[in-house]
Amino acid sequence: MRIPDALTLEEAATLPCAAVTAWQALVVRGYLTADNTVLVQGAGGVATFALQFANALGAKVIVTTSSEEKRVRAAQLGAWATINYQTTPEWDVEVRKLTGGIGVSHVVELGGPATYDRSIRALAADGKISQIGVLTGWGPQPNLSRLQAINADINGISVGSSEQFAALNGFLAAHQIRPVIDRVFSFDEAEAAYEHLASGRHFGKVVIKL
Ligand SMILES: NC(=O)c1ccc[n+]([C@@H]2O[C@H](COP(=O)([O-])OP(=O)(O)OC[C@H]3O[C@@H](n4cnc5c(N)ncnc54)[C@H](OP(=O)(O)O)[C@@H]3O)[C@@H](O)[C@H]2O)c1
Repeated sequence: MRIPDALTLEEAATLPCAAVTAWQALVVRGYLTADNTVLVQGAGGVATFALQFANALGAKVIVTTSSEEKRVRAAQLGAWATINYQTTPEWDVEVRKLTGGIGVSHVVELGGPATYDRSIRALAADGKISQIGVLTGWGPQPNLSRLQAINADINGISVGSSEQFAALNGFLAAHQIRPVIDRVFSFDEAEAAYEHLASGRHFGKVVIKL
């Protein structure tokens, strides 16, 4: 894939997995429009791209995150609302309140077992869950009953194709979107980079420069 002219090598390196995944989820399979409302979980790589893409398309984005500092940063990046899921563990109730009882049309499901049931409860009628993440483990066993009552979809998402990646690059250029890089580590600091990623303190992507 040709590196977009406007991006640095470090910025381009953030795209193939996290950005393409968020793109397939929201745009290719999610058909996202400005009329939609999106729930994004956390402020990691996939989540931050999802926030940027949805915001550029004019959708309202609600971000759940673990700290007040990250709430401020998410708002600066265009989040319509933010929820601290540490202090508001029943964040699905808050999402419904924020949306006037309706729920969100799209959930970017990144948590897995610890978040899936609340994601279903936060979803509006005719909504879509993009099943992407395993941040709290594999094999969620959510109660899916509500999905049939509200005519909802689950889209299983596995990254995306090179055609999708090419379209994403055009979108980034058209909307002048730059990846959010939390920190760039040298190759010698690779271990520290992985520790930083595992700590969850980052906002956006962590890069190791070769
Ligand atoms: N299906 C696919 O094709 C695909 C592609 C890429 C990634 N993934 C998966 O998607 C997930 C996210 O990937 P990533 O690269 O964005 O990871 P990441 O950058 O490491 O994201 C970690 C962040 O997620 C947030 N988080 C952790 N537990 C959470 C919870 N219980 N509720 C809400 N947010 C939580 C935290 O942010 P806060 O401090 O802001 O809460 C944490 O810093 C991973 O499980 C990854 O394996 C799947």
